[in-house]
Amino acid sequence: MGARDLDDSPSAPAGGGDPSVFDLSVRDFERVRRIILGLAGIDLSPSKQNMVYSRLSRRLRARNEESFESYLDRLERDSRFAQEERQEFVNSLTTNLTSFFREPHHFAVLADFLRQSPAGAPQRIWCAAASTGEEPYSIAMTAIEALGEDCAVKILATDIDTQVLASAGRGVYGGQATTRTCGDQRLRRFFLRGTGPNDGMVRVRPEVARRIEFAQLNLQEAQWPLLARFGAPLDAVFCRNVMIYFNRATQHEVLRRIAAALRPGGLLFAGHSENFTDCREWFALRGRTVYERL
Ligand SMILES: C[S@@+](CC[C@H](N)C(=O)[O-])C[C@H]1O[C@@H](n2cnc3c(N)ncnc32)[C@H](O)[C@@H]1O
Repeated sequence: MGARDLDDSPSAPAGGGDPSVFDLSVRDFERVRRIILGLAGIDLSPSKQNMVYSRLSRRLRARNEESFESYLDRLERDSRFAQEERQEFVNSLTTNLTSFFREPHHFAVLADFLRQSPAGAPQRIWCAAASTGEEPYSIAMTAIEALGEDCAVKILATDIDTQVLASAGRGVYGGQATTRTCGDQRLRRFFLRGTGPNDGMVRVRPEVARRIEFAQLNLQEAQWPLLARFGAPLDAVFCRNVMIYFNRATQHEVLRRIAAALRPGGLLFAGHSENFTDCREWFALRGRTVYERL
């Protein structure tokens, strides 16, 4: 990193005298990168200055902070402020893009895997970056389609971001987008249509939702006690499109612990741009971004 990278010159929208607009210096940006790496394992690219600016300036306004520097000072040094604000800081910097049946080939593999499992045996599936819920609900719909309403499939759906988890728990989505990604047949089978003020919205039916437990879990944390409570060893793990935010060392550590939680023969589903082939000691590639625990 050159000396220029650490100077104080503004690198994102300058105030120009408007008190509602802040300056994000290179030093502030580097501080944000360091803090979010420590809290969430998210290794923000140096090109994300504008993203950081737009997402965190909302927090500065909400907190009546005058500058990024004062906000970050309080976040690091004022323990009461940090206790209240840390989660909002993390929520602001996560990227939550998702959709129902994203990367649809995974759900065909999951359906076959569930059909091949011993009849009646409970299946435990962990969705490790559940975002607003479309992924765990897609897993639940796939399980019901493959094994029927009475199947013993349980899903633990976790994320670091408390705001998306709250939305996931409500299970309410826009009707048009849901029809586009789930199709008419699934919409009729698995969703209730909103009426009155909820016209145009749909809600996941309780018989789908009841299979899923939503909870906060930070993949960066050293221990995942929630998994033991849920009942490891697990049969399958969806850990998709979250490792891309982590550096190599964090990815390796998270994979090591996922491997420890999966039963031999269990499946790990990864995101389309995530490649874990250097973890051959734990996993064998079994299809496009699907790995089997050895
Ligand atoms: C791009 S979304 C992927 C959602 C879904 N898995 C999919 O593939 O459609 C990434 C999710 O990872 C979550 N995330 C980021 N860092 C995390 C961490 N350290 N622990 C748990 N979840 C994290 C974010 O909050 C976000 O909801």
